[in-house]
Amino acid sequence: MRKIKTGSFFCGCGGSDLGLIGGFKYLNKKYKKLPFHVNYAVDIDKKAVETYNHNFKHNAIVKSISECKHKDMPEMDLVIGGFPCQSFSTVNPTKNPFDERGQLYKELAKVLKEKKPKAFIAENVKGLMVLKKGSIFKRVLTEFKKQGYELNYKLLHSADFGIPQKRQRVFIVGIRNDLNIKYEFPKNTHSNDNELNTKGWVPLSTVIDSLVHKNDKYYFSKKAVEGMKKAKNNMKRGLYQDLNKPCLTITSHLAKVSLNSRDPVLLVKPEEELYRRFSPREAARIQSFPDEFEFLGSQGDAYRQIGNAIPPVLMWHVAKALNEQVFQNTSLGIIN
Ligand SMILES: C[S@@+](CC[C@H](N)C(=O)[O-])C[C@H]1O[C@@H](n2cnc3c(N)ncnc32)[C@H](O)[C@@H]1O
Repeated sequence: MRKIKTGSFFCGCGGSDLGLIGGFKYLNKKYKKLPFHVNYAVDIDKKAVETYNHNFKHNAIVKSISECKHKDMPEMDLVIGGFPCQSFSTVNPTKNPFDERGQLYKELAKVLKEKKPKAFIAENVKGLMVLKKGSIFKRVLTEFKKQGYELNYKLLHSADFGIPQKRQRVFIVGIRNDLNIKYEFPKNTHSNDNELNTKGWVPLSTVIDSLVHKNDKYYFSKKAVEGMKKAKNNMKRGLYQDLNKPCLTITSHLAKVSLNSRDPVLLVKPEEELYRRFSPREAARIQSFPDEFEFLGSQGDAYRQIGNAIPPVLMWHVAKALNEQVFQNTSLGIIN
């Protein structure tokens, strides 16, 4: 079978790429191999690329997208890119959305212009859609459309696809105009609504072996707990998770998580006010990484790579639908 050549920009540790390629198991379900092959992958984060190269047979390179020359890139049928989102984040609204990182979607658009792939998948935080009353999102869409693509976008909820996390991300899928296809997003496989004919949301307990963790370093000190109690009442704090529900979004800075933040934590013993953070492996499971996927670098590096990632299971569903609609569409004559 012909492999669909894919360029992966902002590949990070490869959450998106694992989902795209498939062939992994998560929570006893097999996510079958998809016919994509990544023939160009790039990210500026050296540690993330080390992790990427440790887990895949093909290699990613460490480079800024702004420095990648189009003539050095191979042909691509598909381009994927979860462009950096810090400047669009609603968790951090003080960040300037027009800073350099906020402009990186333009670099992705330039790749579309030069390489003319049949399709692309872009991903970003929910905040991008509402920031500056939606004007920034409109700008991003216009830039992608201008390169000759029919777009569709949707806010996808990770828990609706069997991931024990309430992470919501906007996916923009573009298909080259000459192919005359408008992408349809995959149907939810899970739901929080009993009326719908799907399975219920997967609870956090499915991926947390035990509330108690053997390693002391994951526990918050008494001082941290006292600090949380003294903090203003209107502050989000001590957001301990209900094991019977999906977890709040896993962020990239869990190494420095505090009890006075919007980050999810665990309450191990209520009577002793004993709280802890998630271990990197637990965070990776909440993100739908299989346990075989290994993260290189320090703990901080691992949390960053994990929190930045597109959940592989979510990407798998988006990519599978794209494959069926575009690359396996026999009427288009582009098929293997
Ligand atoms: C949202 S994360 C992507 C995560 C990745 N797709 C995954 O699923 O694991 C954004 C990535 O953009 C990378 N990045 C930031 N600025 C960059 C640049 N100028 N060139 C290339 N990569 C950049 C960051 O290092 C980060 O890994």
